[in-house]
Amino acid sequence: MVAQAPSGKKPLPDMMTSIRIDQSGQVEIIDQLLLPHTVTWEKVSTPDEAYDAIKSMKIRGAPAIASLAALSIRSYLSSASAFSSTSDVISHLNPILDHLQSSRPTAVNLSEAMNRIRALLKSSTDVSAEDLVEKVKTLCGAVHEEDLKRNMEMGRLGAEWLWSKRRAGSDKKGLKVITVCNTGSLATSGYGTAIGVITALFEHDHLDTAYYAQTTPYHQGSRLTSLELTTLEIPATMICDTMLGSLMQLEDIDGVIVGADRVVKNGDTANKIGTYQAAVLAKRHNVPFMVVAPVTTVDLSLSTGAEIHIEQRPPVEATLVRGRNIETGEMSVVRITPEGVGSGKERWQGVYNPSFDVTPADLISCVVTEKGVAERKEGQDSIDVASVC
Ligand code: MRU
Repeated sequence: MVAQAPSGKKPLPDMMTSIRIDQSGQVEIIDQLLLPHTVTWEKVSTPDEAYDAIKSMKIRGAPAIASLAALSIRSYLSSASAFSSTSDVISHLNPILDHLQSSRPTAVNLSEAMNRIRALLKSSTDVSAEDLVEKVKTLCGAVHEEDLKRNMEMGRLGAEWLWSKRRAGSDKKGLKVITVCNTGSLATSGYGTAIGVITALFEHDHLDTAYYAQTTPYHQGSRLTSLELTTLEIPATMICDTMLGSLMQLEDIDGVIVGADRVVKNGDTANKIGTYQAAVLAKRHNVPFMVVAPVTTVDLSLSTGAEIHIEQRPPVEATLVRGRNIETGEMSVVRITPEGVGSGKERWQGVYNPSFDVTPADLISCVVTEKGVAERKEGQDSIDVASVC
């Protein structure tokens, strides 16, 4: 997939992609647990396989998991034997939708995609079983395909906004920005959310350096963002999560740009663990803090971030590290804590491992969706997210 460069500019190199679909409709994903060392494509033919891939983080990133869940329903419908009636289709699909939705609770894109299918089922009781199957398959394809276009729009809007906010009198040719987690083509259907803004800045020669945090314990930054940025040949520097403050003291940072797993009505935002501390530091250093997320990540049914259910991941994901042995080249998993840490009787078995944290809106400068940029007004502690939905 080649992103559109401004006219006259060299097109970007091909992006990584997390999902591919062959001519026959077979869906495959890259096993992201093995990245960046090995690119292994794995077939996903059923909703159960999609559930396992999402739960085990072989695929992750809010929009990407929604895409895979939807595509797995399309595969299921393509291979299912004929349904006896419309209600037969509905009674087969409802438990599948519930099961897929339960795989990761915080990222709302997945629930949103499942809800779109539920709404279609509900409103289609007067069509034949065959027609309903076709309608659901078309919708499932759209969930995946719609993502790329809106990411490019968010990239454009977000880059324009940040460039317009550069410090008065600045003669900077390019901005220094920080991002966390992985929000690029591996986490979406292409181009990305926060990484989309960084890519758009780069394409317009408005980027100096993208600093990206390693994002422990899952290392989405050091394993995946590093791979995306180097593939796109975007100037980038990795930092450990513990170095955010030091970097902001040292460098004249122009923006912190993050994606989101759920943005609620008042602008409070759940995103990868570590986002909140980046926002606190950005405030301290007077650096604009941007959240970039499609409308499918906005949940207007929740009023504040306190209502967001935060997924806890198992302790092993923080006590073990997967990597490539530098001598043998083999992939292996190594323990970095003493035996027993993570299997005790303490709270959380002795390892606190939330997958996400909530950044309150008063620390966020703006929320960018494909529909526009909602800025927090000076002195206010919320953002009118509905205005960009
Ligand atoms: O646990 P993950 O890797 O699925 O978390 C991903 C993130 O938190 C991303 O920042 C978020 O999904 C937005 S990406 C498009």
